[in-house]
Amino acid sequence: MSHFDRNQPCWCGSGKKYKKCHCAFDERIEALRSAGAIVPPRELIKNEDQIEGIRRSAKVNIAALDYVAEHIRPGITTQEIDRWVYDVTTRCGAIPAPLNYEGFPKSVCTSIDDQVCHGIPSEDVVLEEGQIINVDCSTILDGFFSDSSRMFMIGEVSPEKRRLVEVTKRSLEVGLSQVKPWGYLGDMGQAIHDFARENGYSVVREIGGHGIGLAFHEEPWVSYVSKRGTEMVMAPGLVFTIEPMINMGSDEIFVDEDDGWTVYTEDGLPSAQWEIQVLVTEDGYEILSY
Ligand code: MF3
Ligand code: CO
Repeated sequence: MSHFDRNQPCWCGSGKKYKKCHCAFDERIEALRSAGAIVPPRELIKNEDQIEGIRRSAKVNIAALDYVAEHIRPGITTQEIDRWVYDVTTRCGAIPAPLNYEGFPKSVCTSIDDQVCHGIPSEDVVLEEGQIINVDCSTILDGFFSDSSRMFMIGEVSPEKRRLVEVTKRSLEVGLSQVKPWGYLGDMGQAIHDFARENGYSVVREIGGHGIGLAFHEEPWVSYVSKRGTEMVMAPGLVFTIEPMINMGSDEIFVDEDDGWTVYTEDGLPSAQWEIQVLVTEDGYEILSY
């Protein structure tokens, strides 16, 4: 590379000179690529302006889930949750990302007990004491995407279900401890898988997390049954979700044939999921939505 090129503006759009911005980054990427690693293409690496946009989107995302957390209770329908998420999101000037996404009819996913994910809110589904529910909320603000989900326990739930919800939440922390610049997504995936199995649970294989930020679902696809030292390199500026689905019984799942969306456990045992959105930074990570 010539002296001229090194003094040109960086490809990331920061406005800084290349040599002062992503020059060392590119050298490291190239070394990893020649050693056979999967490295992120440039379009996945977010610059400061994009990160700021995603942070603002994530604030709305968090506000919608906070509203759900304050109001969810036995006796309400999942349609009411959909309405809350729609109202909070649109009042903030944002759009619920699921609405009309590939034909999805609602603003949020609500998945109860043996529903693994992508449950469709309905007037006919009334929350009952003892259920566990995942509320998965995704937001678009000014073209920037955010995505996170939480579990809620409705009234008193059984110790077995409570433990599933808590272990699943802790699995995110276990996964996060592996998120560091220049590590591999498989470091995170294996840590979550090992932790779930140590606790007697299984991890869904077919559905995973994803890159996110300028689109709802970007590369890479993120597995939580992957192996240490494999999958994409976590380069600084990469944004992705950690959202393992952990089953009390077997890892087998199926999709509801009638609605085409709702995913269930094959054995009818409960499944739990928490989701956060993380940015890989120069010295670790930043949680964007949770
Ligand atoms: N939040 C889900 C995800 O992480 C979105 C599923 S697409 C939907 O991928 F249409 F069901 F919302
Ligand atoms: Co997601």
